[in-house]
Amino acid sequence: MSDNQVFLNGEYLPIDEARVSVLDRGFIFGDGVYEVIPAYGNRPFRLEEHFRRLNNSLSAVRIDNPYSETQWAAIFDRLLAQHHGDQSIYLHITRGVAPRDHGFPADTPPTVFVMCSPIAPTNPDYLSKGFAAITLDDIRWQYCRIKSIALLPNILLRQEALDNNATEAILIRSGYVTEGSASNMFIVKDGVIKTPPHSDQLLPGITRDLIVELAQQQDMACEEATISEQELLDADEIWLSSSTKEILPITRLNDKPVGNGKPGAVWKTMYQHYQVYKQQLREQAEGQH
Ligand SMILES: Cc1ncc(COP(=O)(O)O)c(C=O)c1O
Repeated sequence: MSDNQVFLNGEYLPIDEARVSVLDRGFIFGDGVYEVIPAYGNRPFRLEEHFRRLNNSLSAVRIDNPYSETQWAAIFDRLLAQHHGDQSIYLHITRGVAPRDHGFPADTPPTVFVMCSPIAPTNPDYLSKGFAAITLDDIRWQYCRIKSIALLPNILLRQEALDNNATEAILIRSGYVTEGSASNMFIVKDGVIKTPPHSDQLLPGITRDLIVELAQQQDMACEEATISEQELLDADEIWLSSSTKEILPITRLNDKPVGNGKPGAVWKTMYQHYQVYKQQLREQAEGQH
């Protein structure tokens, strides 16, 4: 049993007591969207950007946002107050409970679920040695910009990577890198950082956008440009990014070393900038308490 409280449709209750109907369209159809928001010093990270992406996902699937930003923030604050240390907020909205029918139900309130959990510290081996990835065909749909809860293709792709002793799958569509099964991708070639531009073929990662912003602030060469499969194979460094994994180096690709097979110098510099940025936010949050 866990006394961890979660939020479900207006109520705060222990996670073991949180129940949704088997007719919930999230359960039946995967009809919903979600967000994952890290929180440092109990302060949600890049909240404005997460709200923007949530609103984009909701409007793309034609679900009204059930709460104002102030209401969301109050829910997050109450759940975050249960723990200290780095946490992630998981927020999930479905089209609600209705008889099974593909068309949208009339007058049905959405199901809203929010939980917080501690962010596991990064495996030190990932930072000192990096990890392995494989390339796979991007079998997903054409609206990857939407943060949909329907993640079956991503799950199959991730599992195929794991089955091949790799930690992440790097997805290739029509000869170009899109992203990872649950991350965005970066390469470095001759000192220049490159990541695919925003498009319907990938999720606009909040961490990705921050890395691009930090590169600009720090005068590091960085391009938002398409990456061919060949460029990926020839890269000096490959990184992935996500809210809970931050920025991690991929040092083996398809069983071959990436560059010299060790985490690269450009990654180390960017990782440091990212940690400094996070620490500044933590200190600001503490200063305000
Ligand atoms: C498919 C996909 N791309 C990219 C990301 C990274 O996005 P963010 O940096 O906002 O966590 C995720 C995160 O889970 C993801 O699932």
